Amino acid sequence: MRILSSSVGRKILMSITGQLLIIFILIHLIGNSTIFFGPNGINAYAEHLHSLPPLVWAFRLFMLAAISVHIAYGVTLTLENKAANPGAYAVKRNLKASFASENMIWTGLLVAGFILYHLLQFTIKGTPDIVVGLDSANRPDVFRMVVTSFGNGLISLAYMFAMLMLFLHLSHGIPSFLQTMGWNNEKTIPAFGTGGKVISAILMLAYISIPAVILAGLLKL
Ligand code: HEM
Repeated sequence: MRILSSSVGRKILMSITGQLLIIFILIHLIGNSTIFFGPNGINAYAEHLHSLPPLVWAFRLFMLAAISVHIAYGVTLTLENKAANPGAYAVKRNLKASFASENMIWTGLLVAGFILYHLLQFTIKGTPDIVVGLDSANRPDVFRMVVTSFGNGLISLAYMFAMLMLFLHLSHGIPSFLQTMGWNNEKTIPAFGTGGKVISAILMLAYISIPAVILAGLLKL
């Protein structure tokens, strides 16, 4: 298929998979925010989420495919750009080059590393900090699990650092996908840049608020 081999086609696929990942990040944030309602918030939410296992697995496989395409093409595009411009950063010059735009590969790989750790921790429940159990309503106690883990300052700090990497990645990723979709002109490019930073900052602060509130002792067992 030509779309897979042409570099424009691959950019479009990166853009579409990136948009799917942003939608996931938004939905996941809304779901995670139920933690502010205590065990009855997040434990009920997690129970609902897992009540249809075939749907959960279909969604997981779909997201795995999206993230794999996004990473594979991100790495190959970066390598190809480097080979074409040895010694220079190859960033589309219609968007202003910035620290975020020049380090997309590194912030992306750090976020991917975070996701692996995060899955090992909260989905596989395989890290030493994890406390598993049931709450008084016999539901998996996700509230206790998350609050116990984020009570560890190092874990919370690692999350905050990962959210900063996600912010940097999205602050260029959002304007970049808008440009790839062809919605750019003289007037919209500066607005894309500002909009990308504002949306990414809101996402970062909202995600960081969870470990921050727990570390501050405002959300406890
Ligand atoms: C404060 C920040 C976060 C918290 C408290 C949190 C919490 C959780 C929890 C509790 C689960 C397990 C859900 C369950 O099995 O019931 C989970 C799964 C997951 N999280 Fe997060 N998360 C956070 C940030 C993120 C971020 C920033 C990303 C992506 C960039 C992310 C990606 C995922 C993925 C891919 C899964 C696996 C979903 C599945 O089981 O199919 N999380 N998260």
